[in-house]
Amino acid sequence: MKSTLILSIALSLFQVAPSWAQNTTCPAVPLQTSWAYVAPPKNGKRDFGPPYVKQGKAPNGQPKKPNYRTGGRIKNFILTIPDGFGPASEVFARDFVQWQNSDKGWNLQLASDTVQVGSVRTRSTDSYVTDSAASATAYSCGIKTYNGAIGIDEDGNPCGTVLEAAKLAGYKTGLVVTSRITHATPASFASHIYDRDQEDKIALQLVGYQPVNVTGKPVADILLGGGLGFFIPNTTAGSSRKDNLDLLSIARKAGVNTFTTRADFDRLNKGNLPGGGLPYIGLFTNSHMSYEIDRNSTKEPSLLEMTKTALNSLRKATRHSDKGYFIMIEASRIDHAGHSNDLIGHLHDIIQYNEVVKYLKEWVDADPDGETVLVGTADHECAGLTLGGIVTTGEYQYNPAPLAGGKHSSAYLASLWSSYNGPNPDSYLLDIFSQYGINDANSTEISVAQKYKTSSSNMDIHLGQSLTRRAMVKWSTTGHTAVDVNLIAYGPNTDKLIGNHDNTEIGLFIVNNLKLDLPKVTNLLNNPKNEQWLVEQVGRDKVQGGVKSRKRHHHGHDHTVM
Ligand SMILES: *[C@@H]1O[C@H](CO)[C@@H](O)[C@H](O)[C@H]1NC(C)=O
Ligand SMILES: *[C@@H]1O[C@H](CO)[C@@H](O)[C@H](O)[C@H]1NC(C)=O
Ligand SMILES: *[C@@H]1O[C@H](CO)[C@@H](O)[C@H](O)[C@H]1NC(C)=O
Ligand SMILES: *[C@@H]1O[C@H](CO)[C@@H](O)[C@H](O)[C@H]1NC(C)=O
Ligand SMILES: *[C@@H]1O[C@H](CO)[C@@H](O)[C@H](O)[C@H]1NC(C)=O
Ligand SMILES: [Zn+2]
Repeated sequence: MKSTLILSIALSLFQVAPSWAQNTTCPAVPLQTSWAYVAPPKNGKRDFGPPYVKQGKAPNGQPKKPNYRTGGRIKNFILTIPDGFGPASEVFARDFVQWQNSDKGWNLQLASDTVQVGSVRTRSTDSYVTDSAASATAYSCGIKTYNGAIGIDEDGNPCGTVLEAAKLAGYKTGLVVTSRITHATPASFASHIYDRDQEDKIALQLVGYQPVNVTGKPVADILLGGGLGFFIPNTTAGSSRKDNLDLLSIARKAGVNTFTTRADFDRLNKGNLPGGGLPYIGLFTNSHMSYEIDRNSTKEPSLLEMTKTALNSLRKATRHSDKGYFIMIEASRIDHAGHSNDLIGHLHDIIQYNEVVKYLKEWVDADPDGETVLVGTADHECAGLTLGGIVTTGEYQYNPAPLAGGKHSSAYLASLWSSYNGPNPDSYLLDIFSQYGINDANSTEISVAQKYKTSSSNMDIHLGQSLTRRAMVKWSTTGHTAVDVNLIAYGPNTDKLIGNHDNTEIGLFIVNNLKLDLPKVTNLLNNPKNEQWLVEQVGRDKVQGGVKSRKRHHHGHDHTVM
């Protein structure tokens, strides 16, 4: 009652006295009281607010004209998917970068800001909140399907993907990711299965055990990422397979260059080998690759490095061909950090993604024939990030400063903590907090962390949430949300993408640009001679109307369903 009264007074204040907007501090408007009040922590000299946002001279300028040429047709298509990257996450990272570069002022944009053309609706057939599988299938096949479905429709029939159609039409193809290569997003471009969790079978399809293997080779000429565990036999340490198949050896027999180390990746000479060195499969970690902030560069290349090598390979391999290439590049783990409510992992994977987008723009500009198109869109928002709303004293605040101290993801630190068995757990724990950028952990935060020593998945969220209080941001969930995502596009024809689109329209945009024939691939996949494959590998008969999978997809905090 009381707060409603205050709110209506505040609202009427806004109407009669709009000049508050010119004021540097806003009037004391009570914020939503349904959110638990959390006192902003005091930290000696810095009491967290209201931050004085230093600004350099920011020239108010018009956006630059694009530099790309426009040829008569589209030869190359680059799709980039920042998984779980919502609009608030973009602002979250941009404001941090502006804070770091305050001399550049408010005009400093992330690369993806500079090519934003619209937004994308992401709902699936069985939920307003999609998962990566359904959304990636919208991008790959141009159809709506149910959460969990990989390259199949609601009735379990495989759908031809843009990558497969491109391959059959003579284009070269690639998938470059930082998750397991068998994870939902990449899987939806080159495999077909009723359940995203069947990663054994997805791996088998990725190395060629699916009908679009006319040359006896995998449908993707390039696979780079993590997920080695699903490619090595169950007799090998680190394997995630249930059987003893050695998929890398199967791929090698089909003429694919396979490798698992940074040194071997470097031997690709950034893609400058005869024919680009295609085809190749490089898998650097048993499961997902590291978050960018945790990455050891002597062991794992960055997403940017993988992108550069893959693009050079594809260009070299198609230089004298009428057909170019299709590549999907996924910044996979922006999403995983969201699931962990991990601001630090999230931030640095977003910054890396924007390095990739910057490079991709330059790549489009560098095509002398103007035949390369870049489109980028997340598959969904993750974790309901919002910037502000934590302080009840009326100031409008988001403070990126505390993020600067984070040296590792919360998952990395939680795992250090759980494996610690030395003599000084108390000081070790303080050090864990401090590596996450928190130098003033309070007694409650410490005791909760002690309780979570044996539970890394709670500990990583605890670290993440402890930092949100200081940065004055909020996560609303550890799952996905239904919020529309940003759409970026650069290159010829991309003016057609201005506006708000359904995710299936992005798939169809790729089809139209590369003049692909998806029904032809769908027919090939569903040919009765593939009956055994359809039943045993796709699981076609395990699903009807998207129903069988439904029970699997109610997850709150579940690290396996991302
Ligand atoms: C700012 O607002 C406060 C009241 O909220 C008022 O006392 C003060 O005069 C205003 N300052 C300016 C520069 O308008
Ligand atoms: C191609 O896929 C089919 C299944 O559709 C399989 O029978 C065949 O063995 C595969 N070929 C290769 C070379 O893997
Ligand atoms: C490994 O795979 C083989 C079949 O490929 C199976 O017989 C065996 O039980 C598996 N071993 C384990 C430990 O899963
Ligand atoms: C990175 O990995 C190398 C090779 O295993 C190792 O020697 C080095 O200590 C690691 N660096 C860090 C910072 O962990
Ligand atoms: C420590 O911070 C938490 C919020 O993270 C708060 O709920 C708690 O009251 C604080 N405890 C102390 C002792 O300040
Ligand atoms: Zn997710």
